Amino acid sequence: MQNKEESKKLFIQTLGCQMNDTDSAHIAAELNKHKNYTPTHNIEEADLIIINTCSVREKPVQKLFSEIGQFNTKKKEGAKIGVCGCTASHLGEDIIKRAPYVDFVVGARNISKIKDVVDTKGAVEIAIDNDDSTYEFARAETSMYKTSVNISIGCDKECTYCIVPATRGDEISIPPEMIVEQIKKDVANGAVEVMLLGQNVNSYGRRFSDKREKTTFTKLLQEVSKIDGLERIRFTSPHPLHMDDEFIEEFAQNPKISKCIHMPLQSGSTNILKAMKRGYTKEWFLNRAKKIRELVPNVRITTDIIVAFPGETQEDFEDTIDVIEQVKFDQIFNFKYSPRPNTAALALEEQTVPDEIGSKRLIEVIELHKKHQSELMQVNVGKTMTVLFENLKPNGEISGFTDNYCQVFVKGSDELLGQFVDVKITEATRTALKGEIVK
Ligand code: 5AD
Ligand code: SF4
Repeated sequence: MQNKEESKKLFIQTLGCQMNDTDSAHIAAELNKHKNYTPTHNIEEADLIIINTCSVREKPVQKLFSEIGQFNTKKKEGAKIGVCGCTASHLGEDIIKRAPYVDFVVGARNISKIKDVVDTKGAVEIAIDNDDSTYEFARAETSMYKTSVNISIGCDKECTYCIVPATRGDEISIPPEMIVEQIKKDVANGAVEVMLLGQNVNSYGRRFSDKREKTTFTKLLQEVSKIDGLERIRFTSPHPLHMDDEFIEEFAQNPKISKCIHMPLQSGSTNILKAMKRGYTKEWFLNRAKKIRELVPNVRITTDIIVAFPGETQEDFEDTIDVIEQVKFDQIFNFKYSPRPNTAALALEEQTVPDEIGSKRLIEVIELHKKHQSELMQVNVGKTMTVLFENLKPNGEISGFTDNYCQVFVKGSDELLGQFVDVKITEATRTALKGEIVK
C-alpha cells in the first residue's frame, strides 16, 4: 500500500504550443507542491498520467483519443488518467463519455484547479471565464538558462479559422509586477533568457482582472529589460496588426531583445485576410516587415501560413507567394486550413478549396521556403556571431542560439554552457550553423 508521505509519480505528455509547455510545467509544479507528485518518463510506473492537449488543427484531436487509449492499456493498476488543455476545453465531458477510463478533464483556462480535481473521479473543469491571471503557480524547475512566463491568458481576436478564443476565453493580462517578480526568481535560479508568452502578446495591457490603468507591451518590455542578470528577452506570438512604430522601435533599439520576430502572416491576400478577420492588409504586413528589416538588419523573421482557407483563389494564393518572395522568411510554419468547431469560417463551407489544390499549394510554399532558407543561412558563413550555449551533446558538440536565434553547433565542453561566446561560422545547413570558437 502506498504511504501518504511517499512520492507519487506523474507522467505528463504535452501537445501543441509553447503556452501548453508552460501550462504543463505549472501542472507538474502544482502537483508536486500540493500532492507530492514527482515526474517520471516511464508511463508504466506513473500513478497519474496527464495529456495536455491542443485543438488548433484536427489531427491533434484524433491523436488524443488514440493516445489515451494507449495510455489506458499501458498504465499500472489503479493509475489515473487526466486530460487537460484546449481539447479538454472544447470537448469537456464528452471526453469521459467517449473514454470512460479518463478520471478528470481540466480546460486550458482552468490549470489553477488541477490540485483540486486530481482526486475527484469524473471532475470536469472547463469554464472559459475562469480568471487564472493572478493565480501564483508553484514554479517548476526551469531549464538552466531559459525560462518561460505567461503574460496574458486568452485571446480577444476573432480570427475566423481559430478555435483558441473558444477554448481559452477572453484576454486578460497578468499584472506586470507579477511577471517581473517571476522572472527575477528565475534569474536568481540561473536563467539568463526569458520567453514571454501569450496568444497575442503585443496587445498586452488592455485589460487586467483588477481596475488598474491600461499599459502596453512596449512598456512591459522596458520593465522586463531592467531586470539585472537577465540577458535575452524573447516573446511569442505578436500580432502584425499591433506592430506599431513604438513597438518596432523598442524591438530594434533594446539590446536585450532577441532579434528574431514571429510575424504570423496567415495569408498574403487582402481578401482572404479580411475573410479571416485578421485586421490588416497585404500592404500593411509588407510595410511592417520592411520597417523591421530596415531598423534591424540582422533580424530573422518567422511566420505562420494557412493555405486553402475557404474561397482562396489562385490569385489569392499568388499574393501569399508574393509576400513570401518579398519578405523571405527565415522560418515558415505551414498549415493547410482545417475546419474547427465553434469558428466563424465553418459558415464558408461551400467555398471549400479541394484538398488536392490545398496540398499542391502547401508543397509550393514549402519548396519556395526551403530555397529561401538555404540562401539566408549561407549568408552567415564567415561571420562572427555571439552564441549563448545551452546544450551538450554526447558527440562532444555543444549547441546554442545566436542573438537572432539561429542554432549553432561547435566542438566544445560543458564549461561553455550558460556563456555568451563569439563563434566564427564555418558551415551552414538549411536549419543550423556550425562554427569555431573565437579565442
Ligand atoms: N487551420 C489551419 N491552421 C490553423 N492555425 C490556427 N487555426 C488553424 C486552422 N483552423 C494556425 C495559424 C496559427 C497557428 C498557431 O496555427 O497559422 O497562427
Ligand atoms: Fe487564434 Fe487569432 Fe487569437 Fe491567434 S490572434 S489565438 S490566430 S484568434
